[in-house]
Amino acid sequence: MAREDIITGIDIGSTSVRVVCGQIKTVRDHQEVIQIIGAAEAETEGVSKGVVTSIEDAVASMSAAVEKCERMTGVPIEDALVSVNGVHVTAQQAHGVVAIAKANGEVGEDDVARAIESAQSISTPPNYEILHIIPRSFTVDHQTNVKDPIGMTGIKLEVDAQIILGMTAQVKNITKAVYRTGVDIRDLVFSPLASAESTLTKRQKELGAAVIAIGGSTTSLAVYEEGDLLYTSVLPVGSGHITNDIAIGLRTSVDVAEAVKRQFGTMMPEHVGKHEEIDLATIDASEKVLVSRKEVAEIIQARVDELFAMIGKELKSIDRFAKLPAGMVFTGGGAKMEGLVDHAKEYFKTSASVGVPQHIQTPIEKIQDPSFTTAIGLVLWGANASASMNMRNSSSNFSSVAGVTGKIGKWVKSFMP
Ligand SMILES: Nc1ncnc2c1ncn2[C@@H]1O[C@H](COP(=O)(O)OP(=O)(O)OP(=O)(O)O)[C@@H](O)[C@H]1O
Ligand SMILES: [Mg+2]
Repeated sequence: MAREDIITGIDIGSTSVRVVCGQIKTVRDHQEVIQIIGAAEAETEGVSKGVVTSIEDAVASMSAAVEKCERMTGVPIEDALVSVNGVHVTAQQAHGVVAIAKANGEVGEDDVARAIESAQSISTPPNYEILHIIPRSFTVDHQTNVKDPIGMTGIKLEVDAQIILGMTAQVKNITKAVYRTGVDIRDLVFSPLASAESTLTKRQKELGAAVIAIGGSTTSLAVYEEGDLLYTSVLPVGSGHITNDIAIGLRTSVDVAEAVKRQFGTMMPEHVGKHEEIDLATIDASEKVLVSRKEVAEIIQARVDELFAMIGKELKSIDRFAKLPAGMVFTGGGAKMEGLVDHAKEYFKTSASVGVPQHIQTPIEKIQDPSFTTAIGLVLWGANASASMNMRNSSSNFSSVAGVTGKIGKWVKSFMP
């Protein structure tokens, strides 16, 4: 197996590190697909709310997952796309202007690159790094809202872009930890953008949709419209907070509470019989208590409602509450809570579904799961970036993945320590 064909994604979550290896395969009619050939996970230590709190522990967790994945594929992992998550990541609007270089006034790739570069030179707040520059639209002289200006004629080229920034210290800690596992970083990708990559279709992004990733200690959202990223945000609340509330409510350990949540949890207390009981001894023999399943459901519902209120506030801030034609896609391990999506439909007055990885082929069943969407999204991101390198002079493109991502991938600034 040629190792240069392998694209690896490492998703550093606060509950699990997930490593996924994929390959670009050409099938009939020169169509290309991404085949996932390896996937592994390991419990995370040393990461909280997306931020590294102990480099040593983070390195150990990452190494464990990387080694497991290497054993599965038989190929050493040399480089990877790595997720960046956390409330420290913010987005900013930027504008770039350049004079079109050619004497005949035709916009070339160089002009586009310079325009983006000039947008990048906005005053980055001190202690922040640019993770992504995502061009939204171009203006050639007076023609606004141009998606692809190459080949057009004019004097002045302008770009409106979204710049995603991460705090230098946090970004450095992640890169340091990854390098210490012996893996090079091909790119750093803001976590919700990777999740969107594997869960949203091009059409959903065109129509207007949001992906909400409910992780262990964070919930991240990315909203798309007209094919472009409109808004992103990371909330410091995740499904782990539900577990903690159950542990407090039932006066039991976090491990027992976690098992109760996964096996008996539901968002619909009204569907649970008054006398339905959970025997904690089936989870932990030392816990000789019966607890009410309705009470557990009520705890879960209270927490999820709190989270939904926070998500709702974000959507209201951009005037998209109940205004997303292609609805909301819930992903991340927390999206597996029974009844969550049905409740979301009512709460957000929109269509909603659970996001599982799309745009891939794989014999590995366990990754057809919401908790693997970020890691798989990283692989898709990498595949798109390499496809866009030769997009203009070859037919290489992934029809199933939004075209805009190639554009993003190409201009991503990779951060080296
Ligand atoms: N079947 C299930 N039902 C309900 N919740 C679940 C289920 N399976 C996993 N979870 C929850 O999903 C959460 C972990 O999700 P995920 O693996 O996506 O998080 P992460 O990526 O490690 O964290 P983060 O994105 O916050 O850094 C945990 O809180 C776990 O309890
Ligand atoms: Mg996550």
